[in-house]
Amino acid sequence: MSELVTQLPIGNGIAGAPVARDRAALATVLSQRSGPVGVVMTMGALHEGHAALIRTARARCETVVVTIFVNPMQFGVGEDLDKYPRTFEADVARCRDEGVDVIFAPTQQVIYPNGDPQVTVHPGQLGDELEGATRPGHFAGVLTVVCKLLHTVGQVDAAFFGEKDYQQLVLVRQLVADLDIDTEIVAVSTVREGDGLALSSRNRFLSTVDRQAALSLSRALLAGLHVADAGGEAVLEAGRAVLATEPAVQVDYLHLAAPDLGPAPSAGPARLLIAAKVGSTRLIDNIAVNLGRA
Ligand code: PAF
Repeated sequence: MSELVTQLPIGNGIAGAPVARDRAALATVLSQRSGPVGVVMTMGALHEGHAALIRTARARCETVVVTIFVNPMQFGVGEDLDKYPRTFEADVARCRDEGVDVIFAPTQQVIYPNGDPQVTVHPGQLGDELEGATRPGHFAGVLTVVCKLLHTVGQVDAAFFGEKDYQQLVLVRQLVADLDIDTEIVAVSTVREGDGLALSSRNRFLSTVDRQAALSLSRALLAGLHVADAGGEAVLEAGRAVLATEPAVQVDYLHLAAPDLGPAPSAGPARLLIAAKVGSTRLIDNIAVNLGRA
C-alpha cells in the first residue's frame, strides 16, 4: 500500500477506512475492491446530513468512497474559504462509524497541480441565477471539481447529493447528462434539527440569537407548503409574511420554480427556495410543493 494511504486505527484495534491522499493511493485501494462504487463528495465538517448521504450510499453500493476536499474554486473573493470549518479528525471518525470504505482527502496540489484550471465546466444560464447571481463563478467551481472527482475515482456507479443544495443537485444532474458521464445522481432528503433548521456546516457560525432568527427560513417554506393548494402566488405571499416578522434576516430570494428550476408551473410539482443572510452567515433552504390551481 502506498505511503500516502493511511490505515487509521479505531478504538477496538481494527483498522478503519483508509485515507488516500493522492490519485495513485486511491487507485490502489479501489483496485482491491469489487462491485458498484458510490461516492459522497464533501468539503468536510461532516454532520448528520452527510451521514444520511453516506447511509444511502452504503445501502446501495458495495464500495463507498467519501471525498473530503475544500474546493477553493467554488469560493468567490470575500467569501468564507479561510473561515470554512476544517474538522478532519472528526470527519474521519464519522466516516469510519458509518462504514465508509475509502476516504479520499487530496491536497489542493493533487486536484489543481497547475493552479487555477484553464478549462472549466460552464454551468449554463442556471449557473448565473439564484445562488449564482450572488456567487459568480460558484457553480463553475462546483461542477469542475465534481467532474474531476468523478474522473479521479474512476467508474462511479452512483453519486449522492443532498437536496439541501438543490441548485447544485440540479446542475450536477445536468452535468452528467450533458457530458455523457455514466453515473447515477441520487438525491437525498434534507436533514433538519428538531425545530426545522436545515443542517449545514455553516450553522456553527450562528449566534444563539441568529440561530433563533434563522428558523424563519424553514418556517417561511412551511407556510408556503401549507397554502400550496391555493397556487403559487399564495405560496410566495405566505412565505413573505413569515419573513417580514424577522428583521434580523436579510432575504436574498424567496423563489418558486419548477423542479428542474425552470419557470414555476401554474399547477403541479414545484420547488420553493430561499436564501438569506442571518448575521454574517448566508443560509439556503428549499422544499417541494405541489401547487393547486389558484
Ligand atoms: O456540496 C458540497 O459540499 C460541495 O459543493 C461539493 C459537492 C463537495 C463540491 O466541492
